[in-house]
Amino acid sequence: MSDSTDRLPVFPRDFLWGVSTSAHQIEGAVEVRGPSVWDVFTAEPGNVRDGSTAVVACDHVARYQEDVALLRDLGVDAYRFSVSWPRVQSPGGLDFYERLVDELCEQGIRPVPTLFHWDLPVGLDWLERDTASRFAEYAATVVERLGDRVTKWITLNEPAEHTLLGHALGTHAPGKKLLFDALPVAHHQLLGHGLAAQALRAAGVRDIGIANSHGPTWPASTDPADVEAAEFYDVILNRLFSDPLILGEYPEGIAELMPGDVSADLKVISEDTLDWYGINYYQPTKVGAPGGPDDGSTEFSGVTLPPGLPFSVREIEGFPVTDFGWPVVPEALTELLVGFRDRYGDRLPPLAITENGCAYEGIDDQERIAYLDGHLRAVHAALEAGVDLRGYFVWSLMDNFEWAEGYTKRFGLVHVDYETQTRTPKASYRWLRDALRTHRA
Ligand code: BGC
Repeated sequence: MSDSTDRLPVFPRDFLWGVSTSAHQIEGAVEVRGPSVWDVFTAEPGNVRDGSTAVVACDHVARYQEDVALLRDLGVDAYRFSVSWPRVQSPGGLDFYERLVDELCEQGIRPVPTLFHWDLPVGLDWLERDTASRFAEYAATVVERLGDRVTKWITLNEPAEHTLLGHALGTHAPGKKLLFDALPVAHHQLLGHGLAAQALRAAGVRDIGIANSHGPTWPASTDPADVEAAEFYDVILNRLFSDPLILGEYPEGIAELMPGDVSADLKVISEDTLDWYGINYYQPTKVGAPGGPDDGSTEFSGVTLPPGLPFSVREIEGFPVTDFGWPVVPEALTELLVGFRDRYGDRLPPLAITENGCAYEGIDDQERIAYLDGHLRAVHAALEAGVDLRGYFVWSLMDNFEWAEGYTKRFGLVHVDYETQTRTPKASYRWLRDALRTHRA
């Protein structure tokens, strides 16, 4: 046990500890599922950094028992995974999730499925309103089979990234470059959340969440042009998703840009659809007026932003960075959580961190230990400040297919040798296991 582990604060007894994965990133077994938009996207040369695909990934469908044993030995309470919609569409596709859930329950680990983590069946597109209804039908099918053993559900993962990267910038599947014309994708996913929540409620579910990505937006300076640009960015990346879900309204100026009967849809999106709100946190973003002073201003997370946007993303200096180049700023997580509490007050459901983690190479991953140590302290500081936060999930259990980065970025607590599929727990896995033993009340 490292010295820093000794000093970690004690967390509440009923705090839910978990790790997260997603179907497309780990499962493999493509022969027993239909194609997803990610299969099409990865098949196109140039879309994935190392030219790889997720055809095998971590071969999890075949090796799930070994992976559940790793979860058990780690000592987590819960496992957040996603259900592949294209697999569920295939005959017998739900059988795998039934086996996985049974294995988890047998090992005393709570299953927390996410219904959509970006791997949309080919033929569907969130640009179309009908996809929201199809999503609700699919949710009903899954809950019918698993609802007797699964009580805690997540509808969507990061609709912001699916909108921004998949439909606005085209660096993720389905690879569209619609810029602001991608806004209906956000609305239809939110509507899909609302309709899926109705389907889950109809099946008796009382524990529904969503996993949205959020991070504080820091203005590059106090100059009004920078402040205004940062506010715009905060609306597009944060409030566009949290306001409708929590307040039942879009930030000013957005509703007019959305399709359909927006006020009726907002009721579906917000009325009794959340028992808790999941936050995926990775980093803050510094934002200034368009055309910032440095050339890096048009780069965001490895994505080149097109010219003509009403903001520019600036480099955050003075912090360590991960292999992704993302700054490591644990205190921004406390800022984010306290900010949510202050903004939404009594309307805010209990929170959970549904993803937090970092990309680093190596099995003796001391940087990941430092990252987790810092972020757990930041979570604890938010608890001390009175934020109602009920759980924390690390991204990710094991190295996996990191979307457009292929296998070049490793987020796992467990190392995966993609040639042999050998799993090797990293130093961070042992650190977290010891932390979980020692720091529960
Ligand atoms: C996603 C994960 C992804 C992680 C690291 C999140 O945006 O939900 O699927 O692997 O970040 O990039």
